[in-house]
Amino acid sequence: MAAGGSAVGLGNIWRFPYITGQNGGGAFVFVYLVCVLLIGLPLLLNEIALGRKSGKNPVGAIKETGGNRFWQSSGVLCVVVCFAVLSYYSVIAGWTIGYIFTELINIPVDFEVFIQTPLYVVPLCIVFILLTISVVLGGISGGIEKAAKFLMPILFLIILLIAARAVTLPGASKGIEYYLSPDFSKINGKVILSALGQAFFSLSVGWGLMITFGSYLPKGNNIIKSSLWIAGMDSTVALMGGLMIFPALFALLPGVSPDEGPALVFNVLPRVFDQIEPFGNIIGGLFFLLLLVAALTSSISMLEVPVAYFIDERKWSRKKATWTLGIAAMFLSIPSALASVKGNFFNLIHIDFFGNDIIGFFNLMDFFFGTLAIVIICLMLSVYSGWIKNVKVFATELTIGAPAFEGFPRKAWIFFIKWICPIVIIFVLLNMVGVFGA
Ligand code: PFF
Repeated sequence: MAAGGSAVGLGNIWRFPYITGQNGGGAFVFVYLVCVLLIGLPLLLNEIALGRKSGKNPVGAIKETGGNRFWQSSGVLCVVVCFAVLSYYSVIAGWTIGYIFTELINIPVDFEVFIQTPLYVVPLCIVFILLTISVVLGGISGGIEKAAKFLMPILFLIILLIAARAVTLPGASKGIEYYLSPDFSKINGKVILSALGQAFFSLSVGWGLMITFGSYLPKGNNIIKSSLWIAGMDSTVALMGGLMIFPALFALLPGVSPDEGPALVFNVLPRVFDQIEPFGNIIGGLFFLLLLVAALTSSISMLEVPVAYFIDERKWSRKKATWTLGIAAMFLSIPSALASVKGNFFNLIHIDFFGNDIIGFFNLMDFFFGTLAIVIICLMLSVYSGWIKNVKVFATELTIGAPAFEGFPRKAWIFFIKWICPIVIIFVLLNMVGVFGA
């Protein structure tokens, strides 16, 4: 449940729709689902097995299983990724806090004005990080997870309600078509990289988190069943997330392009709440409140991974580690928060990375840490388990508590970890740096 709670977050409801919009709609959704099933799921099993086998954090797990410094660096990269993503994830969570109030009080806000006002976005982001710090400090994440256990189904019901409203709006059919009928000619290297990155982001794979969760699991626990649940739940929420947005976008905001980026969901949803009678604004406020809880169960994990590393490997106290990393994340979040202010230095900052144009500090962080680094970690972990170590040991770990895994599933998993996962990832990375031409 805890792993499921940290998997479902802003990645499903905010990131999935906007990345889908930037990558052409239906075809992206198709590639995404293939990535979840064929690459994400085997890697999720891999991380949990690595964690349960070693009983350690991401760096400790590689050390414990005899990996050298190079392989241990994949664990360190996990710690860096969690910290870096926490900083800009909090910016979006801060927007969510703002929207709870604007919906409840029913003030019509101009989203563009809201995100361009540093006096709103920076303090809200800091409030969110302080919330995260207080949970991680108090060791009360168990309490939050219990609350999330009954709050998340309510969030899901509200999402269903919003999606139902969205698809019944006059003019919604264009959006449904954009979202669900794939135009395969739109698939290219960038679409595949984005889909792979989004699958890992959403499943929380490639962050070391699942290694940590695996280390807490008793031997009798059925890892296969848990992983299928996490992947199924996570993908369902993401798919429903898209179904709230695209039909409504085409019906209500015909002038807005689906590829407008991180602001997409925040532009569209308030307009849908306006269309729900009565109590649309109360439903809207409740939606953003529950989204905040979902974001919090995710941010807690993102802070916990580096905190646990500094406690275990550097012998810091929990208090020192949490405050130091939390405050550092606050400072790092400011440029991401300012990146939405037009004309600002962080808005204009621009990098050409092997022909990929990355504009703005926020997108830069999301590309290098939220996509590329995670993909590299997944590559390293699959090569580590599949080739450097004896992959059968991990396959056997997966079988404990899940006898049905014996036989074909076990063989298939070994084949995917050794061959399919690394080959696909290497191919995608080589394509990104232009090896196969522009
Ligand atoms: N999977 C989360 C989401 O989709 O929002 C993001 C995430 C949370 C990744 C926690 C990693 C993590 F440790």
